[in-house]
Amino acid sequence: MAGEARPPPLGVADLQLLGRRRLLLRLLARSVRHAVEAYRPAARVARVNIAHRSFTVPPTVTDELRGWYEAVGLGFGQGRAQDESVARWREEIARDGWRLDGAYADAAGFGLGEHTPVATFATTTQTINTGAGHLEPACFISDVTVRTTHRRRGLLTRMMGDALTRARDEGLTLAALTVTEGGIYGRFGFGVATTSVAAELDSGPRFQLARDIEPRVELATPEASVEARRAVFDAFHAGNRGSHQRLAFYDAFLSGLWDHEKAAPNRDVRSAVHLDADGKPDGVVSYHFENDGEKVRVRDIIATNPEAELALWQFLASIDLVEKVVLRRLSPTSALPWALADPHRLTITKVADFTWLRALDVPGAIAARGFESDGEVAFTVDDRLGLASGSYRLVVRDGRAEVTPVSGASLRLDVRALGSLHLGLADACVLAGAGQISGPAKDVHALSRLFRTALPPVNASGF
Ligand SMILES: CC(C)(COP(=O)(O)OP(=O)(O)OC[C@H]1O[C@@H](n2cnc3c(N)ncnc32)[C@H](O)[C@@H]1OP(=O)(O)O)[C@@H](O)C(=O)NCCC(=O)NCCS
Repeated sequence: MAGEARPPPLGVADLQLLGRRRLLLRLLARSVRHAVEAYRPAARVARVNIAHRSFTVPPTVTDELRGWYEAVGLGFGQGRAQDESVARWREEIARDGWRLDGAYADAAGFGLGEHTPVATFATTTQTINTGAGHLEPACFISDVTVRTTHRRRGLLTRMMGDALTRARDEGLTLAALTVTEGGIYGRFGFGVATTSVAAELDSGPRFQLARDIEPRVELATPEASVEARRAVFDAFHAGNRGSHQRLAFYDAFLSGLWDHEKAAPNRDVRSAVHLDADGKPDGVVSYHFENDGEKVRVRDIIATNPEAELALWQFLASIDLVEKVVLRRLSPTSALPWALADPHRLTITKVADFTWLRALDVPGAIAARGFESDGEVAFTVDDRLGLASGSYRLVVRDGRAEVTPVSGASLRLDVRALGSLHLGLADACVLAGAGQISGPAKDVHALSRLFRTALPPVNASGF
């Protein structure tokens, strides 16, 4: 700042004046915002011609498919699509069986052409482990975008309503999604169902495990890692309440065979497997180096038992010159924090919501859940969208749930609460404190005891 003329320091009167001016400016900005909101009259919105179309993945890349891909890229701030990316993406979403919904506007000469929708919404049926080893088919929702020029006109509301109704009519009991913003999906009945835990491990000289681990770890080629990861994931998915099925893109992304963000293979990605006593993979890690090799970033670590996971951590911490290992998803049931000789070597850097769940059919969803306690309780579900509203009596005997309709109940649950209770993440007493459950304390406690699980839900897959 040397040589620049500086303004004299502000006195108290100046600060008060400045404060008043700021307040006035804020009030002015707010009234302008309100005027702009008010200027979006329903009649003006209604004049825009929107056609809703829904299609399954075609056997080759069509103009419609490419346009849909472009629209999603636009919604998430990515560049224009490249041919090879679109072709690979088509193969992946065909394997998953996605249904693609689009809202198409009459662009009157502008816009991005007739094949590129102004809103996108995708659904597929995949399984969620709902406890006691049960894999429940659920409606997975992804690629929700509305073009900036067409927001706040009810497009998301319409597409969400259509998709949830369709899923319920097809007999699905649950819908699931992940979110980029926390304020959008509660109104549609979704509650946070699993969390993700980001962590940093100091893998320098002070890293040490307090138990002996057999180091049966081998590096794997990208191709071999795909097979190993699939097998380990299938066992993990069957064994962990809260696990969401993995989509096809995981194969190429975690092995480095293809990276959609780079629109090319990612040669930085490495994979290592842990082998059980019979030489079969029971753990796999995918990682790459950052900061000239000082830091390892774990893309994914998955194991069917604690020994395999700890052996992979030991392997990562043994890589020469690496001082730090970072990851986005440490399992909430990982033994790592408890196995470190010095627990301070591990820092939890973030705990965030991961998947959100919504009940579509209350008796069906509850019957599919593994319960760890017996008991009974009657409750009413309030659902703004009307999909899951009703009053029920839940009776659990020997872990098996029976749900029968009743005429009414004084315990009331917002449908969001069911999503957060279902996999065992939230406690009913805590949700009552948050206003999502109301009614007599004894009923809230009965609900809390019934839905309690020994372990938190574990999920390793986003979509
Ligand atoms: C989020 C998004 C899909 C909303 O679409 P939209 O068509 O404008 O939504 P709608 O007009 O149907 O609005 C539905 C409701 O959500 C609210 N809403 C919309 N976007 C919101 C946001 N970002 N934060 C909080 N509330 C939001 C609306 O105010 C409206 O509320 P109401 O029901 O109380 O009136 C759109 O803004 C978007 O594409 N964003 C960028 C991509 C993205 O974030 N996708 C979400 C991936 S999880």
